[in-house]
Amino acid sequence: MRCPHKKIEKKCKYGIISTTKINNKKTVNNKSTLTENFFKSNFSGSPKTNSKDNTSQTLIPKSNYQKLLDKNSAFLNGLGENPMYDAKIIAQEKRKIKIGSKWLIDFASCNYLGFDVDPEIMESITELVSKWGTHPSWSRMLGSPAPYEEVENKLQNLLKVDTCIGLPCLTVIHHYCIFILSEGGEIFLDKRSHRTLYEGAVKARGLGAKVTYFSSDEIGQLELLLKMSTSHKKMILVDGVFSMHGQYADIGNLAKIARNNDAILYVDDAHGFGMVGERSENETCSYGTKGNAIINHCGENYDNVVLTLGFSKAYSTPISFICCDSKTAKLIKATAVPYLYTGPVNTAALATALKGLEVNEKRGDKIRLKINKMCQRLNGAINDMGLRNENNTDFPIFNFYLEDADKVNFVSNYLFENGVYVTLAPYPMVAQRDVGFRIQLTAANTEDEVEYVISVLKDLDNLVRMQRKDTFA
Ligand SMILES: Cc1ncc(COP(=O)(O)O)c(C=O)c1O
Repeated sequence: MRCPHKKIEKKCKYGIISTTKINNKKTVNNKSTLTENFFKSNFSGSPKTNSKDNTSQTLIPKSNYQKLLDKNSAFLNGLGENPMYDAKIIAQEKRKIKIGSKWLIDFASCNYLGFDVDPEIMESITELVSKWGTHPSWSRMLGSPAPYEEVENKLQNLLKVDTCIGLPCLTVIHHYCIFILSEGGEIFLDKRSHRTLYEGAVKARGLGAKVTYFSSDEIGQLELLLKMSTSHKKMILVDGVFSMHGQYADIGNLAKIARNNDAILYVDDAHGFGMVGERSENETCSYGTKGNAIINHCGENYDNVVLTLGFSKAYSTPISFICCDSKTAKLIKATAVPYLYTGPVNTAALATALKGLEVNEKRGDKIRLKINKMCQRLNGAINDMGLRNENNTDFPIFNFYLEDADKVNFVSNYLFENGVYVTLAPYPMVAQRDVGFRIQLTAANTEDEVEYVISVLKDLDNLVRMQRKDTFA
């Protein structure tokens, strides 16, 4: 029987773009994804294929310094004239920040639970530092101060998972754990996933794995690709809560597909952890309860699932975790460079992680309800304005897209003048059609601040048109 899965490789200016044909119908098109965009626009060069199966997609950086500067000239010029790039923030009071002589409301923080400015959490640092000093210095393999284990045990209970291993950050976790766990097999990378997952996959590809893209909007396509794969090891990479627009991955179906196809589902829930959690009859809002991350929110378990998450968003603390069964954890401990050789997080991070978990238990659901109400208000206003809006969850991430991408510096100056600080999304960090800005809400913002930003957004929309939902295809 003729195999219906025919791989074709097309040369393009970025290297090799692979297009998969299923029954002669084009189903996977690896055109520029959000995560790839920046990389592709900066690095081009000769594609290198895997000599065994001739299907790997490899992008070889061949740029030189001047080329990089030229390609990013619009962005780099903006650094000088744009007050929201590379800002020097000289003071902070709750979610107000001071830049130069101007106070602005900070809508760029993703410290969702507001723990960075919570007195109970701030005070926890002194006591632990007085016992352990400022920084332990040993690598994890060499030895860890007891609070590490305390955080890991508490987190395991909260997440209902066998093992959690604490490491400095998710970027590092992805960089080392994806290639270890994929074992040179085939990685199925969601096109919308975070840049750091993409980078982890690129490293694995350099060490022999094959990377195939799929769209989590079309989950049937993933199933087909997995069934057709002959690889000895299959791994699916997705964001839990998508960092660009706050949608949730369909973990229930993804986990089922992973189990049916003997694959690992590797989830990055940097944003979901602390915000979304298990559903309950007593829940007060759509985020669920406990903030125990996307796997619990979707009522799933960890069979064939590896969860990665960071405390640096909701918990305002620089420590991240890989959470998995104990056998996988042993492999990570024995082979992952950041466990074996990298320095640990400092004592202050352990203190705020521990206290954060305690505060979450005491009053986390109340805090999440407050955020949820503010998000409902903002999301409703965005929809009333008829703007392109992918946020269907009331998660505190809202994107605004400009009709004219060249207006990004004007928009930034306008918002700055009106005391609103946001995260800009300029080209080439995002594709041209996604240029705009992002607003995030945290528990340290107030309802008045939300009303204020809605009024500024309405004025801005009269000056510079933002993309509408009916014109965006
Ligand atoms: C979805 C996602 N994953 C990973 C990261 C990187 O996290 P870390 O700072 O822990 O490396 C981020 C940071 O913004 C993120 O949004």
